Amino acid sequence: MNGVPQAEPCNIVIFGASGDLTRRKLLPALARMQGWNLITPDSRIIGIMRDPSWQLNTWQDYVHESLREFHPDTVNDPARWESVSAMLELTIGDLSEPSMYQRLREALKTTNGKTNALFYLAIPPQWYEAAVSNLHKAGLLDESDGFRRIVIEKPFGNDLDSARKLNQAFREYVKESQIYRIDHYLGKEGVQNLMVFRFANTVFEPLWNRNYIDHVQISVSENIGVEYRAGYYEKSGALMDMIQSHLIQVMTLVAMEVPVSLDGNAVRDEKVKVLRSVRPIPPD
Ligand SMILES: NC(=O)c1ccc[n+]([C@@H]2O[C@H](COP(=O)([O-])OP(=O)(O)OC[C@H]3O[C@@H](n4cnc5c(N)ncnc54)[C@H](OP(=O)(O)O)[C@@H]3O)[C@@H](O)[C@H]2O)c1
Repeated sequence: MNGVPQAEPCNIVIFGASGDLTRRKLLPALARMQGWNLITPDSRIIGIMRDPSWQLNTWQDYVHESLREFHPDTVNDPARWESVSAMLELTIGDLSEPSMYQRLREALKTTNGKTNALFYLAIPPQWYEAAVSNLHKAGLLDESDGFRRIVIEKPFGNDLDSARKLNQAFREYVKESQIYRIDHYLGKEGVQNLMVFRFANTVFEPLWNRNYIDHVQISVSENIGVEYRAGYYEKSGALMDMIQSHLIQVMTLVAMEVPVSLDGNAVRDEKVKVLRSVRPIPPD
């Protein structure tokens, strides 16, 4: 990809490697990045599995199957698949088991004297805190020999109190700059295009305000249904799953003022101003 620098060699550790998020989103994203040459070949993709029957070749087959379905370009090109396959490693164990973190430490690869690691928590939210605490206890979040990062998906708590509690717990173990809270919905092309559409377009930019726009409706069209996620939806519901995260983010992109730059913090500041100006909806 033009202009995007290649990342330093890194151990990309996936907690929840057998889950839906990993299969449908994370593995295809990593394969795409490999295709764009954004990941060095000496990086590793380490899957954490709790089922002890998994072997390295089972994990490789699983990744192959997932990519065949969600990013076929990689598996249709033997050389490309070979490069992705060579990065794969496996660590077996349960998130609650301290010995798993010791095995993980041994699995981390050092390149040019640095042991960079990114821990992607593709696990049920109730496990976030325990996983980070166990990583800390095992010394895996210490940055003396390379960077260490934590990536978590929404939901970040299920209300203000639980989100604050989770933030507080994380702060005990890592610096804010080590945490990346991701809403992968914002990676969708249509959502990404909103910023360009609004701010780089001399026709729309001067008209995008309340003098010319009567109201805005945001529609979400999904091409898959609840499917086998009934258990999850039963607890979460569409309001919590879609609106309080993805759609409020889209609303901020539609309504915010021009940020001073496209830097993450500058965009965040403008989004916060939109959220502060929204009148709370009474629960009833
Ligand atoms: N799926 C999505 O599109 C999506 C979208 C946005 C956010 N998220 C968030 O991403 C996270 C993962 O979601 P998901 O849909 O991938 O869930 P999932 O399909 O239920 O997968 C959960 C994964 O966590 C593993 N796991 C659970 N308990 C474990 C333990 N004690 N030790 C080791 N591994 C354990 C599971 O392993 P087993 O296979 O052994 O059970 C599985 O690999 C959740 O927080 C979810 O809210 C997901």
